[in-house]
Amino acid sequence: MTELGPVTWPPAPMRTERLVLRESEARDRAAFVELLASPEVRAYLGGPRPRDELAHVVPEVPGRRRGIFVVERDGTMIGAVTLDRRGAERPGHVRPGGGEAELSYVFLPEAWGSGYAAEACAAALGWFADAFPGEPVVLCTQTANDRSMRLAAKLAFTEARRFEEYGAEQWFGVWSPVMPSG
Ligand SMILES: CC(C)(COP(=O)(O)OP(=O)(O)OC[C@H]1O[C@@H](n2cnc3c(N)ncnc32)[C@H](O)[C@@H]1OP(=O)(O)O)[C@@H](O)C(=O)NCCC(=O)NCCS
Repeated sequence: MTELGPVTWPPAPMRTERLVLRESEARDRAAFVELLASPEVRAYLGGPRPRDELAHVVPEVPGRRRGIFVVERDGTMIGAVTLDRRGAERPGHVRPGGGEAELSYVFLPEAWGSGYAAEACAAALGWFADAFPGEPVVLCTQTANDRSMRLAAKLAFTEARRFEEYGAEQWFGVWSPVMPSG
């Protein structure tokens, strides 16, 4: 994954009905550690990482870079939504040179089942459509990851192909912005 490329960053905090999407801050560190240490969150992402290791390697302000939105609910981080560029070496592309914008999402388990991830991802996709007009966004998730598969469908990603990677079947989908007509 590489960063998105030229775009004004950070954008002003984005407010949705129930959430705020903003740049990472030092007060988000514990939530970032939890996202990396949680067996539930990491079930389809390579497994949890040991907390004692994370205590040393997670920076003071984690996730502060172009394309990473912290998602906040009632003043507290509940997850993160990221838009990166998909490496050309990875399987799954929708344009010849690769480097497509790719959406990913991680939320703390206590925030699952309330529609927060869908609300935050829709806002991030709206931001992307304004910043990079006409560009598609891709998404890759294990087919076994039911919640992620449902979210991808709800966000209107459509299947482009499936393939094996990391010893599991992967679903690769694409989202296209609605362009104004005329
Ligand atoms: C993937 C993930 C973000 C999905 O989270 P989620 O909360 O299930 O997703 P949504 O925001 O779409 O919420 C949908 C659920 O909220 C419920 N919901 C409750 N109130 C709602 C509301 N007001 N609006 C919309 N949905 C609502 C829906 O009924 C649905 O519940 P169900 O799945 O039990 O049927 C989450 O499981 C996660 O972080 N997983 C670990 C990380 C991961 O695997 N990421 C994928 C790699 S890209």
